[in-house]
Amino acid sequence: MTNKKALTTVNIQQMKQKGEPITMLTAYDATFAKLIDEAGAELILVGDSLGMVIQGLENTIPVTLDEMIYHAKAVCRGARHAHVVCDMPFMTYQGDALEAMKNAGRILKESGAQSVKLEGGATVAPTIERLVNAGIPVMGHLGLTPQAVHAMGGFRVQGKNPQAAQQIVDDALALERAGAYAVVLEGIPAELARVITQSLSIPTIGIGAGVYCDGQVLVIYDLLGMNPDFQPKFVKKYLNLGTLIPQAVQKFKEEIREGSFPTDEHSFHAKMPLFAPHSVDENPPEDDDTIGLYGVPVELG
Ligand code: KIV
Repeated sequence: MTNKKALTTVNIQQMKQKGEPITMLTAYDATFAKLIDEAGAELILVGDSLGMVIQGLENTIPVTLDEMIYHAKAVCRGARHAHVVCDMPFMTYQGDALEAMKNAGRILKESGAQSVKLEGGATVAPTIERLVNAGIPVMGHLGLTPQAVHAMGGFRVQGKNPQAAQQIVDDALALERAGAYAVVLEGIPAELARVITQSLSIPTIGIGAGVYCDGQVLVIYDLLGMNPDFQPKFVKKYLNLGTLIPQAVQKFKEEIREGSFPTDEHSFHAKMPLFAPHSVDENPPEDDDTIGLYGVPVELG
């Protein structure tokens, strides 16, 4: 379960000092985690966005701690080098700091994730300090904080006037003082993200926050273009799987209906007669009994 060669929060912070841009992507299962890890992302976020992209919910509010741990466990099995950070879901850290410690502790102990992320500014800073003092690294999250969707009146860009912008700068400084090792800046003007990035010694990782952050994060399903109906301004689709996947499924269906899949190439044969001579193929081809189930090689018999 433990990702022994994983990057540490110190490695991530050194990237800012060296001016090396940081790449973070979300993953929710082992297969995606392995692919993202092998492609070189330094951070994998088990985001509570899984409520929307995996569970089909309208927002992240109903996501539970057990669900986060379940997905984080899977991600940790797939990741080798990337640092795995897991979101703390809504109402698992906003109340009592001891409750937050218990919940963050469960994430690290049960899933193998190396740090937690939580949303909010100065009001959650005392909790962050407690977690960090207990040995739990914390990433902050400011600006458009999706767990506060009802308080914000929807998923809206934040910090658009001088007062609101200053509040986010103050919150970012409070998170740094509390010991957060990095902070996600979501849905804020690029000019504000620039000031925050220059004011902090810890890295900023932006999503919808412009180019001046120390790193960038996207939801992997957005980057892959899995949802053709979803095209917010901050997302760049590097693939169009929302079109390619249905095309592949249609082709599969077509080939089943016309009998062109499976061919002999995709079929197994016994090495000895299984039934009465009249029904036996006298010269069955030699098969390798090793097959791959869902990408995992399995020895049969
Ligand atoms: O839950 C999530 O995926 C996130 C990212 C969008 C930063 O918090």
